[in-house]
Amino acid sequence: MTDPVFTPTRLGPVRLRNRIVKCATNEGLSREGLVTDRLIEWHREFAQGGVGMTTLAYCSVSPEGRTYRHQMWMREEALPGLSRFAQVVQREGARAAIQLGHAGWFAHPHAIGGRPLGPSRTFSPHAQTFARAMEAADFERIRDDFAAAARLAAEAGFNAIEVHLGHGYLLNQFLTPWNNRRRDRWGGPIENRARFPREVLLAVREAAGRDVAVYAKLNMEDGFRGGLELHESLAVARMLQSDRSVDAIQLTGGHTTRTPFFLMRGDVPLAEMIANDRNRVRRTALRLLGPFLMKPYRFEEAFFFDAARQFLAELEVPLMLLGGINQLETMNRAIEEGFAFVAMGRALIRQPGLPRLMQRGQTESLCVHCNLCVAEMERDGTRCVFRTDEKPPPP
Ligand SMILES: Cc1cc2nc3c(=O)[nH]c(=O)nc-3n(C[C@H](O)[C@H](O)[C@H](O)COP(=O)(O)O)c2cc1C
Ligand code: SF4
Repeated sequence: MTDPVFTPTRLGPVRLRNRIVKCATNEGLSREGLVTDRLIEWHREFAQGGVGMTTLAYCSVSPEGRTYRHQMWMREEALPGLSRFAQVVQREGARAAIQLGHAGWFAHPHAIGGRPLGPSRTFSPHAQTFARAMEAADFERIRDDFAAAARLAAEAGFNAIEVHLGHGYLLNQFLTPWNNRRRDRWGGPIENRARFPREVLLAVREAAGRDVAVYAKLNMEDGFRGGLELHESLAVARMLQSDRSVDAIQLTGGHTTRTPFFLMRGDVPLAEMIANDRNRVRRTALRLLGPFLMKPYRFEEAFFFDAARQFLAELEVPLMLLGGINQLETMNRAIEEGFAFVAMGRALIRQPGLPRLMQRGQTESLCVHCNLCVAEMERDGTRCVFRTDEKPPPP
């Protein structure tokens, strides 16, 4: 009998060969904000390895939304590389997704050549400056940037667009009372805090066209007092469902500035992160603030399962379970319980061929949650430090 996780399905208008999604994990392989050959080859491995869909990680919708100078950002010049990316992935039988986002208050001033902006004028430890509170023209411009980026992704041939509403990025900053101190129609009760992310998703939905799936990566909770709480996130998910702006929601949690390891769990490789960071200011900030900000969270298999079940109980929109999924049994259980997809990061970074290996009897990923791949991102591109040169098995 076929494992439930290996049954084909649809994500909105797009058919996937199975329910395994390689989630967005910053590759550290773009240069000058453009796709490189190494970036394409990195994703080719996941596609060859058998995932249903792989996600090109964090692409900023404009230069002001970047956290690193070399980070991908969406403009006409990026189109040929993006098209090649989508074609290579699709030729291997997988679907190609792209994560679109804006870093808001933690965009780095050196990367963007100016002061970052956010919902409110608050001090950003990442940027080491106060963010500028967004004004009417900013709302319009950023919404248009998301729509333009979605159009470009569709033109490049991507099958799906993931909009980043999590991990403390701009749209999450709106949802989070800790970042959003506004008293106008964009702040206060959750209906107001959700207004801008909803408008962005509706604009992306329209720009993406009928053949491209759109989904949100949404925090279920930020993981600290004063952050977004689960009952509020549930309300946001209900709003997205009634807006019909998304074909699915990928459920996550954690806030890069406050609770960066809440979203990954496992070891905190602070020494390696400091050693590998090329930016002097960030190195110093990590040395001073890292021990306070990088609180460790114990790793457990499928650590978001319980929280995500509460969403499953209340929503009809298809859901993607994410976070610490390593075992075939967990993957099958998630699908049997009603999740439409499982999204996986480190287990696949450890072994891009994991889906095919699981179809041949492997039952569990070899990832040990050391998070050294996070530190590698800054050195010479994200990679598992335990990987030898295993190639994914042939189909
Ligand atoms: C090296 C690395 C880079 C990441 N970069 C991103 C990113 O660009 N965008 C994002 O939404 N999440 C990012 N994440 C978080 C993952 O998408 C995922 O939410 C998290 O790793 C939990 O899933 P896992 O336990 O299957 O790895 C990153 C994680 C890792 C390990
Ligand atoms: S470095 Fe390898 S083993 Fe460690 S968390 Fe990353 S993928 Fe897993």
